[in-house]
Amino acid sequence: ITRPVPVIAIDGPTASGKGSIASAVAEALGFDCLDSGVLYRLTAWAALRQGVALDDSAALAQLAATLPVSFAAGRIHLNGQSFDAAQLRTEAVGQAASTIAALPAVRDALFALQRSFRRAPGLVADGRDMGTVVFPDAQLKVFLTASAASRAERRYKQLISQGNPAILGDVFAELLERDARDTQRAVAALKPAADAELLDSTDLSLEQTVETVLALWRRHDVQV
Ligand code: DC
Repeated sequence: ITRPVPVIAIDGPTASGKGSIASAVAEALGFDCLDSGVLYRLTAWAALRQGVALDDSAALAQLAATLPVSFAAGRIHLNGQSFDAAQLRTEAVGQAASTIAALPAVRDALFALQRSFRRAPGLVADGRDMGTVVFPDAQLKVFLTASAASRAERRYKQLISQGNPAILGDVFAELLERDARDTQRAVAALKPAADAELLDSTDLSLEQTVETVLALWRRHDVQV
């Protein structure tokens, strides 16, 4: 019997620490890591740069379908363009990504690309709909949450440490706005898969959260 390539899906709201947790888990297991938010951010970034309107569904889907990305050594690479990943992490790109992510045509255009990242020995995929839509047969699904206040504080500290001036109240307001958009959209809304493990990291360190996910994975591995 050939076993399907293992996938660990980690979904959760903005600033829940998904990205850091996913890459640490992938590293511990020797798996590849897909940060699916990067694909939405890349599409949004390209749209902003090319002046494509954020409600022009057809043009945005076209951009998403032709993203000049490749995947090698467990990372997403942008082909033939000089590119600074920090450009994708700005609040403007994040909000635009959240806006275009509500468009079904954009999600469809990125669907096959995301699934193509599933390769041996395994994949850790983080996003909003990894366990519900993109990898519904993932062997482990984790829904990572943390209180809005603690997520805002983490994001705020991250911005300050990167030398970006930030105001905690503004960060908190933007986070609530993004949460609302991501959970209320009509397609692939942020919600836990029925078979997801809920993990609240409000009172856990990064290391403790990673250890908890690895423990869930070991438990799963023993069962199959
Ligand atoms: O995880 P992130 O903040 O980098 O994601 C940016 C936006 O992209 C987020 O607001 C919603 C969208 N997104 C999505 O709709 N589905 C995913 N699987 C990942 C991200």
